[in-house]
Amino acid sequence: MKKILVTGGAGFIGSHVVRRFTTQYPEYQIYNLDALTYAGNLENLSDVEQLNNYHFVKGDITDAVFIDQLFQENDFYGVIHLAAESHVDRSISDPLSFVMTNVVGTANLLNAARKAWKDDLGKSDAPRLFYHVSTDEVYGELHDPNDFFLETTKYDPRSPYSASKASSDHFVRAYHATYKLPVVISNCSNNYGPNHFPEKLIPLMIHNIIQNKPLPVYGKGENVRDWLFVEDHARAIDVIFHKGVVGETYNIGGHNEWKNLDLVFLLCKTMDEKLGREAGTSEKLITYVTDRAGHDLRYAIDATKLKNELGWEPSLQFAEGLERTVDWYLANEAWLENVTSGAYQKYYEGMYAAR
Ligand code: NAD
Ligand code: DAU
Repeated sequence: MKKILVTGGAGFIGSHVVRRFTTQYPEYQIYNLDALTYAGNLENLSDVEQLNNYHFVKGDITDAVFIDQLFQENDFYGVIHLAAESHVDRSISDPLSFVMTNVVGTANLLNAARKAWKDDLGKSDAPRLFYHVSTDEVYGELHDPNDFFLETTKYDPRSPYSASKASSDHFVRAYHATYKLPVVISNCSNNYGPNHFPEKLIPLMIHNIIQNKPLPVYGKGENVRDWLFVEDHARAIDVIFHKGVVGETYNIGGHNEWKNLDLVFLLCKTMDEKLGREAGTSEKLITYVTDRAGHDLRYAIDATKLKNELGWEPSLQFAEGLERTVDWYLANEAWLENVTSGAYQKYYEGMYAAR
């Protein structure tokens, strides 16, 4: 029985990774370490929490003593590190909490793994793996429509969030070069799907359309994102965890670029149909608001390396993924209500009231 530590498993992507690994790999014992911040929600895992190979550990990756102890008490075979502060807008209002969690938290995990795995470091058949889940935002923004992010693209982070993720990537590579820690990194584009916290574009728009509230489009809505269904990301993480080459980086993307405004129009149309509203009803809610500071224009991933070397490709067409997502939110209004009460209301007021 191999023990695998998944950090941030109660969050959006982490919960899909935990579900995939607990259900597909009964030979693994999955330890989900999560601090349960506003973004962590154990409800996301209600369907797997009874499984014998699932274990929840509440804890904070910024607590070095606790993390060291966890690694000393458990002989982890691998780590899949997703815990992070993940929302760009929050990083603009509170950058230091991103430094703490994303930089210091990652360094604490690397350091604990280095100490706990010291007898295995540098061995060619390295029976360990530290998998760091990162973002395409570390590469900055694209302007030329023919350009794509490659694994070799120079880092150019432009928000406190992406700077903190870039820094964590550098620490991961430094631990590989210096201590021979067996690591692998992936940098993924924008995810969407069930359990996505409604501070992010797609679930926020779905929530506001249901509630007939204004749909806040930043600037002119011309920024472009490359959207990937979250289960495809979890499958990519599975493939890279099992087949990725130690020390390598893999870009993951959806080959699915959308201008924000076009995406919001598509969501309005889909939701009008689903809710039985007259065509054109929801798009009247679109409201242009002050742009995000330093708003990256376009992200687009070239995932050829992952396809050619490990055989991964996205499986879902966007229309199908978006419909599954909308259906999930409509069928899970209680989930949406739970995560949007209390603290979320305060956040929303602060972020959008005077925008
Ligand atoms: P999320 O915000 O939904 O979840 C983050 C999880 O980490 C939450 O469960 C939270 O409780 C936990 N967490 C936060 N701080 C912690 C701490 N100090 N100690 C322990 N746990 C803590 O994030 P997500 O969107 O699921 O992203 C997961 C990872 O994937 C992040 O590293 C993010 O940078 C990366 N990523 C996200 C996307 C995306 O589109 N969402 C794309 C590429 C990469
Ligand atoms: O590219 C990967 C990244 O994608 C991840 O690393 C991040 O964790 C994740 O949050 C996401 O970052 P973005 O900033 O691209 O996602 P967000 O959903 O916040 O915004 C998507 C686009 O929509 C962006 O151009 C800003 C715009 N937007 C967002 C919100 C919340 C709006 O126009 N209005 C909004 O209310």
